[in-house]
Amino acid sequence: MNVRFASSGPLKGRISPPADKSISHRAALFAAMASEPVRVRNYLDAEDTNSTLAAVRDLGAIVEVRADELLIRGGGLRNAQPPGHAIDVGNAGTLMRLLPGWLSFQAGSSFVLDGDASIRRRPIDRIAEPLRLMGATIEATEQRFPPFTVHGARLAGIEYELPVASAQVKSCVLIAGMTTERTVVVEPVASRDHTERMLLGAGAPLERERDRDGVYRTAIGDADELELELIEVPGDLSSAAFLIAAGVLVPRSRLLIEGVGVNWTRAGFLRILERMGAIVVGDVEPDGAFGPLEPVADLDIRNGSLEGTVVEPEEVPLAIDELPLVALMGCFAEGETIVRGAGELRVKESDRIATVVGGLRGLGADIEATEDGFVVRGTGGLRGGIIEAHGDHRLALLGAVAGLASREGVEVVGMEAAAVSYPGFADDVARLV
Ligand code: S3P
Repeated sequence: MNVRFASSGPLKGRISPPADKSISHRAALFAAMASEPVRVRNYLDAEDTNSTLAAVRDLGAIVEVRADELLIRGGGLRNAQPPGHAIDVGNAGTLMRLLPGWLSFQAGSSFVLDGDASIRRRPIDRIAEPLRLMGATIEATEQRFPPFTVHGARLAGIEYELPVASAQVKSCVLIAGMTTERTVVVEPVASRDHTERMLLGAGAPLERERDRDGVYRTAIGDADELELELIEVPGDLSSAAFLIAAGVLVPRSRLLIEGVGVNWTRAGFLRILERMGAIVVGDVEPDGAFGPLEPVADLDIRNGSLEGTVVEPEEVPLAIDELPLVALMGCFAEGETIVRGAGELRVKESDRIATVVGGLRGLGADIEATEDGFVVRGTGGLRGGIIEAHGDHRLALLGAVAGLASREGVEVVGMEAAAVSYPGFADDVARLV
């Protein structure tokens, strides 16, 4: 589906972004592992998180869709039922990498996971390695791609230093660690901590500390059961980021974006924007905070001028899904915007270094790819043109925002990809213009 986003007049008004995708995936998975029914409010209704609901149903959970919430009745930690067919994760990398953590301790049972064409290009060796060290058996296509099979076993605890900064890998190991005496994940740089917060809230024995070198160590021990009762999912900062960018870039805009999750391990984009000189006002969680709750804030956004900035490797995991937008902001800024240490972008829903650089260049940007990031030279604006989404929701949404802020508008080829995380984006924009 091709959709044209014309150069826009000011965006104004209040808006609530879609529910958080990362937290919704975790809510459905942990609810399915809980012993008592769990109510989930504001679960994201989008393709990725619907794949997670289908997966937990396949594994035996009952999901009741009520008027204003979901009620999920799971069978407890050790009772996932093999469905007799492959579990379809669709396009959802988070589901593909977190679910095996749970399946790996279903001793004596085997599960096959598969997904769409994009998922079949995304590596799973990063979770297979720690799960094997714990005692599970994983068989993957070419050793590292879906479809793959998880054979559950009784697991042993490990201490595991993450070779890549990945919240998905960390989460997988912590979930598997719930049936071991003690498992420790060591993270040289922080990544999103929604799993840790939800497990803490569910009563799991989880501890996190930061040593003098700034390294995070998260330990989990044997959890008899998870107790959750009610999970309220905040608005998704990664989806809100597209509205924020539109508000900052389109002249005379003023937006109030309500109910956004502002966990500091997700809020790197807001700190980058602040350095670029953007006017974003809101009560973001201070760096280093940790507890069972997910902080929420309203963000007040105004259009304003920008200057270039440098995003260093430590900041990358805290803004990983918003880096395509940093490239777009860089096109409008004065001077250079550089992102370094973001090689992980190459294994997202598309190779986001190649697709962002190629896509924005096609719209008139002065941007170059590096091995692990990009360099943008700001030209104060963007001409417009045609951009291909490559089946990647964040590319489709990037093209849409680029169109609103451009001189000639942008046609997005493959806009349907946006349904993975933000199906209502075009309608939301229409209401704000
Ligand atoms: C996610 C973590 C990130 C992010 C993805 C969602 C999560 O991936 O890019 O969209 O929910 O844990 P990595 O942890 O692999 O970097």
